[in-house]
Amino acid sequence: MTVAFQSWASAHQQRFEEVLRHLLPQPDTVPQRLHQAMRYAVLDGGKRVRPLLAFAAGELVGADLARLNYAAAAVELIHAYSLVHDDMPCMDDDVLRRGKPTCHVQYDEATALLVGDSLQTLAFHLLTDSALSVRPAQQVEMVRLLAQASGSRGMAGGQAIDLASVGKQLSLPELEFMHIHKTGALIRAAILLGVQCAEPLAAAQLARLDHYGKCVGLAFQVVDDVLDAEADTATLGKTAGKDADNDKPTYVTLLGLQAAKTMAAELHDEALRSLAEFGERAQRLRELADFIVLRKF
Ligand code: IPE
Ligand code: IPE
Ligand code: MG
Ligand code: MG
Ligand code: MG
Repeated sequence: MTVAFQSWASAHQQRFEEVLRHLLPQPDTVPQRLHQAMRYAVLDGGKRVRPLLAFAAGELVGADLARLNYAAAAVELIHAYSLVHDDMPCMDDDVLRRGKPTCHVQYDEATALLVGDSLQTLAFHLLTDSALSVRPAQQVEMVRLLAQASGSRGMAGGQAIDLASVGKQLSLPELEFMHIHKTGALIRAAILLGVQCAEPLAAAQLARLDHYGKCVGLAFQVVDDVLDAEADTATLGKTAGKDADNDKPTYVTLLGLQAAKTMAAELHDEALRSLAEFGERAQRLRELADFIVLRKF
């Protein structure tokens, strides 16, 4: 990772934290406890990979930063909601997230459920905001993209397959289907939402960026599986070894650590190949692909 990339990423992360603080309901607004719990689940933590992908894709096509903030926030709120629900006792039953007690531990289960519901609806509310002020057809397309990526044919569907697969050995295509949905769909949507913040892109270019998104989205969960098996709890900020404890099929259980890493590297290469025609303009997306595959947490 270059110094230029690191300073680009940390400048966006810091600036975006303030954007989220402003867009989330304030902690003294009724009902205070729910709003405080929403802020707890979203603020002060996380790598913000999906927003960074939206910013990088948006910069590539010359999108306006004020619009990108809304698109990036919408995706990050859906992601944060998915983590709150993923950690609940009825799902992965985790007590640690982003280095803090999980939302249902810090608050309670009913609050965690409502935090997820409320973050999800806030995400769509943000996409209807006039601050986004893209062409009406593009704004509708953004709502459609995020809805598709979040629901039963996207993240929530992938989570359903994940839960139904406990204790089972999946085939490689089945595992890929699960990962592309539970994690890949939102990552892919982050890139497409960033692109939609500028003038419409030629179909062939859009398809190449979408293919990049598909590759890094799958790679992201392959690496998450590897880290779950290899890294420690302090580094991850979430309980290590949880997949094995919960008897989840992962790329590590199916292929072994080494082959899972090789697969992530191959997806990384394929992602870079789909950026070739964009030249220098795609440099941030290339570096984000590097980050996704080389990250240690
Ligand atoms: C964790 O996502 C859950 C997966 C989809 C693998 P991240 O690794 O992006 O979590 P944060 O946002 O950085 O905490
Ligand atoms: C989570 O997958 C995917 C979503 C939250 C949609 P994991 O269950 O592997 O995520 P972590 O490891 O708990 O972050
Ligand atoms: Mg899970
Ligand atoms: Mg989990
Ligand atoms: Mg995991």
